[in-house]
Amino acid sequence: MSQSKRKQQEKNSATSQFGSQVQDRPRPDEIEDDSPILKFKDFSIFYDDFEAIKNLTVDIPRGEVTAIIGPSGCGKSTLLNAVNRMTDLIPGCHIEGKMELNKEDVFATGMDVIWLRRRVGMVFQKPNPFPKSIYDNVAYGPKLHGKRNGDALDEIVERSLKEAALWEEVKDRLKANAMSLSGGQQQRLCIARALAIKPHMVLLDEPTSALDPKSTSHIETLLGQIRGQYTVIIVTHNMQQAARVSDYTLFLFEGEMIEFNRTADLFVNPDKKQTEEYITGRFG
Ligand SMILES: Nc1ncnc2c1ncn2[C@@H]1O[C@H](COP(=O)(O)OP(=O)(O)OP(=O)(O)O)[C@@H](O)[C@H]1O
Ligand SMILES: [Mg+2]
Repeated sequence: MSQSKRKQQEKNSATSQFGSQVQDRPRPDEIEDDSPILKFKDFSIFYDDFEAIKNLTVDIPRGEVTAIIGPSGCGKSTLLNAVNRMTDLIPGCHIEGKMELNKEDVFATGMDVIWLRRRVGMVFQKPNPFPKSIYDNVAYGPKLHGKRNGDALDEIVERSLKEAALWEEVKDRLKANAMSLSGGQQQRLCIARALAIKPHMVLLDEPTSALDPKSTSHIETLLGQIRGQYTVIIVTHNMQQAARVSDYTLFLFEGEMIEFNRTADLFVNPDKKQTEEYITGRFG
């Protein structure tokens, strides 16, 4: 058994209290080694002359949850948006350096952005379901990518809603409009929609900041479930949440990476004084 598979199984058994629905599935990217999924090398992002991300060099581990923390305006969303090239849509925004997803140069000329966005799912702070049925929200991506068979679609919808810990609440009303769900349910639906296309990684930008504690706890539970299967990057302002849900934490300050470390180490024994001051609430 490969080291990564063993690690995955250990994690799954550790999260079995959540009744994980994803235990025996191969990773969506079908890469079983421990190579980093995402590599940044001297990577900078500019809005015109303003350098929002400064010379970032870091490897994001595969199959793990990485939290990005840092004060408002430090570049967290900018960095996340660059991963699936949403930054292309912003006039004046350009990048320097390199970012590789599964060894593919994301900003190379000729990179197929549709291919990229199939591999990188994104969930935003404010739930944004389509004004369609619950079923159609989840089936939307797979249909767009050519899946037409009703049974296969049913299966994808069920699997994704289970992974997003929403199935039990909606299985009897899949044809109801997604707008009839609560905010917390809508956010889990958006996560199900992101998972339905079997992305290689999922990016979550403050996914729970608009939610109540119960819905937040649902989302944290589902992060526990998909851990080990999907690579997740989550931006959060909530230190306890970062500590609870992530394996690794990246601390950004004014566009610069101050520290990247295992979450347990970063929160208990940070390398940098600046990290310590931030996590203890002394600045930011
Ligand atoms: N479209 C844009 N054009 C110009 N500057 C921008 C744009 N978007 C963001 N910025 C600037 O880039 C910097 C980083 O912004 P970003 O939104 O990435 O921060 P953030 O860490 O996500 O903050 P928050 O925690 O408040 O969401 C800020 O100084 C911001 O003003
Ligand atoms: Mg932001």
